[in-house]
Formats: sequence, C-alpha cells, structure tokens
Amino acid sequence: MKSEFDRLLQQTPLIALVQADGADTAVHTSRALVAGGIPMIEVLFRTDAALECLAAVAREVPDAVAGAGTVLSAAQAEAALDAGAKFIVSPGLDEEVVSVARSAGAPVYPGVCTATELQRAYNLGLDTVKFFPASTAGGVPALKALSSVFRTMRFIPTGGVSPANLADFLAIPAVLACGGSWLTPASLIQQGDFEGVSKLAREAVSISDKARINDQ
Ligand code: 3PG
Repeated sequence: MKSEFDRLLQQTPLIALVQADGADTAVHTSRALVAGGIPMIEVLFRTDAALECLAAVAREVPDAVAGAGTVLSAAQAEAALDAGAKFIVSPGLDEEVVSVARSAGAPVYPGVCTATELQRAYNLGLDTVKFFPASTAGGVPALKALSSVFRTMRFIPTGGVSPANLADFLAIPAVLACGGSWLTPASLIQQGDFEGVSKLAREAVSISDKARINDQ
C-alpha cells in the first residue's frame, strides 16, 4: 500500500483538499480534479456531511484515491476507514489516530511544525508527515532547516500553499508532495464551475512537472 502511494505522489506530488456540504458536490469536485490530473483527494472532516462525501467519492470516482483529512480522533479515523478512506491526514500528531491507521494498513500523515513534534513522529516510526501550517510555520526556510536535521523524514507541506510558492516547496528534496485548498475554491464550486477546478488542477500539475524536472 505504502509504495503504491509513494509512486502516485512521486508522479503527481499534489493532494487536493475537498470540503463539501453534500455528496454530489464532493463527487463533482473530485471528478474535476481527476480530469485535471490530480487523483489524490483529501476529503475534509469539517462538515456534517464529511463521511457521506468521502464514501461517495470512494464509490463513484474510481480514478480518485480518496482519503480523509482534518481527522482529529481515533473514532473519526475508524469511521473514515470504514467509509473507504485510503489514507488519513491530521492537522496534529495524535498517537491513537496513527495507531488506528496503521492497524488498517493505511498511510497516515499527521501534521507537525516543530522539531519536538517531528522527533516524536520519528520515534513513532513515521517516515512521512504533513508540515502544517506550512507558510505561517516558517515556509520554505523552516522546512529546509527541519529536513536538514531529520534527514530520513519526508514532508507534505500544507497550509498556505499556492501557485506562487508551490515550486519552491517542491524543490526541497524532502518534500514528497504539497497539499491545499487553493485547488478547490468555494467561489468556483458554489457557481458549479467545475471546469475552473480542472483548470486549477492542470495549472498545479504543470508547475509540479516543471519543478520536478528542474530538480533532476
Ligand atoms: C488543511 O486542512 O490542511 C489546511 O486547511 C490547508 O490549508 P489551505 O487551506 O491554506 O490550503
């Protein structure tokens, strides 16, 4: 499972965040992201409909790899996995959430932003973490400093990532992928402009392709 994720994220180092009030919106948004070249979709557990949205995306968008984000507790992680989540993302590091995901064999990306949290993640045997909130926690310079110390750790910067700084984050060798909601603006989704979502996805894929080529 793990290597399949690594391969997917190496190919397209982007995780799109989807926050929706209903399954239809989540499915349309996810289809638009997949059409634009982004299969990794993190359905955010921030609305009452989150579980329903996740289950619908997992069932109805076969080319998406749907996971759950903003998972705050072990109970939520269990519910997300039951609803078909293929991976779990948390804003912070919670050992019970990590343990639930690991027992199910699902990749888990807890959020960290300090050396102490990273050391805890390292000693839990994690090799990939979310760096959150990436831009306000020091952005590229902070991540370079942290990754120079935790040399085996890989990072998924999320929080304030945008087309303006995406290439800079991806140029850090320890960055596996970047995540964010800039790909799914509420303004476009409310208007039903799913082609606009695909366009943002294509733009991000193009930036990441160039960043990876320049890196080689
Ligand atoms: C998250 O849930 O990871 C953050 O809300 C993402 O931050 P962004 O909205 O700035 O992309």
